[in-house]
Amino acid sequence: MGICKIFDPYPKENKEDFFDNDEVLDEIIKLIEGKFWPLLVGPKRTGKTSILKILSKELEGIYVDASGVKTLRGLGNMLLKNSLNLKLKVDLKVISIELTKRPVTAIQELLSNLDSKVIFIDEAQNVASPWFISILSVAYNTSQVKFAFSGSMIGLSKIISGKSKKAKFKGRPIVEVNINPWDDNTSIQFLKEGAKRCSINIAEGEIEDAVRTYRGIPGWLTYYGNFRSLGYPHDRAKQLVLNIARNIIKDEIEEFGEIEKTIIRALTLVERARWGDLKKVTEALLKREINDSSFTHALNQLVNARVVNKKVGDNTYSLIDPLYKEVLSTPY
Ligand SMILES: Nc1ncnc2c1ncn2[C@@H]1O[C@H](COP(=O)(O)OP(=O)(O)OP(=O)(O)O)[C@@H](O)[C@H]1O
Ligand SMILES: [Mg+2]
Repeated sequence: MGICKIFDPYPKENKEDFFDNDEVLDEIIKLIEGKFWPLLVGPKRTGKTSILKILSKELEGIYVDASGVKTLRGLGNMLLKNSLNLKLKVDLKVISIELTKRPVTAIQELLSNLDSKVIFIDEAQNVASPWFISILSVAYNTSQVKFAFSGSMIGLSKIISGKSKKAKFKGRPIVEVNINPWDDNTSIQFLKEGAKRCSINIAEGEIEDAVRTYRGIPGWLTYYGNFRSLGYPHDRAKQLVLNIARNIIKDEIEEFGEIEKTIIRALTLVERARWGDLKKVTEALLKREINDSSFTHALNQLVNARVVNKKVGDNTYSLIDPLYKEVLSTPY
């Protein structure tokens, strides 16, 4: 049996394979048509890349994955590569040569020739430097080019939305769009729809258990559905997803500093806690005191990275991804 598209573990590229209960695609298209530049912000594995890829196909735009891009020249090269099949008035060879010497000018030249194309930049935090902001400003003032971004890391939205002291993007047509995990009902619908399309049977109780286990994270639900569609029974499928999660989550945690890592560990113990209690547990694990501002800073980093959720109302903090707890509390 082949892989059913709705449970395909790669980012989706076609609208039909994307489960869109909230019509998030339409909302983003509307923003782009209204000349706003959406910035998708959300926890890992919630479909940001899928959304950008699908929309770039639907709107005949240009998709650029900036996750491996370190420099503006690198970004320019990717843009150029993805523009090769377009009919442009400008000679791309000239731009290519210019890129090696003056990347900012070259990118500006390229953008000014892209008419009203939409450029989708995934993981934009990698290229969000002051130079990048200036390129956006020039594009905004002198061309019809539009952008949409994603970035789940810290710093990006601050720079782009002009809250950073170092670099400000003055035009500010950027609108943050939060991509959230699904609620229980949407998760149930997703698994049911997938089971139907893949002609498999997932029992009610198994669906309930999966929904509880993956707490609305589309990526984990997709992996689970994919293993089920390959014929694995419920428990084995869960085990296989957890094995994958173990490697992925280990790497994600490594990106953080010592205090952030310890806060994550603390949250696997207490599930949900207010600032003061969370600080105490973190200090106990760390076996030293942390000053208030360092603790707040670390906690905010985790909130900005959408690893930790701060619940408005009772001001409690909790981990967004339920598998962080499972991974950290079981031996490797
Ligand atoms: N709405 C959806 N319908 C179907 N599958 C989805 C949906 N959203 C996400 N997925 C699946 O979940 C996984 C993660 O999606 P994707 O890579 O697009 O998310 P992401 O937010 O870009 O993740 P990351 O932050 O790790 O880059 C993929 O397997 C994708 O196919
Ligand atoms: Mg992604």
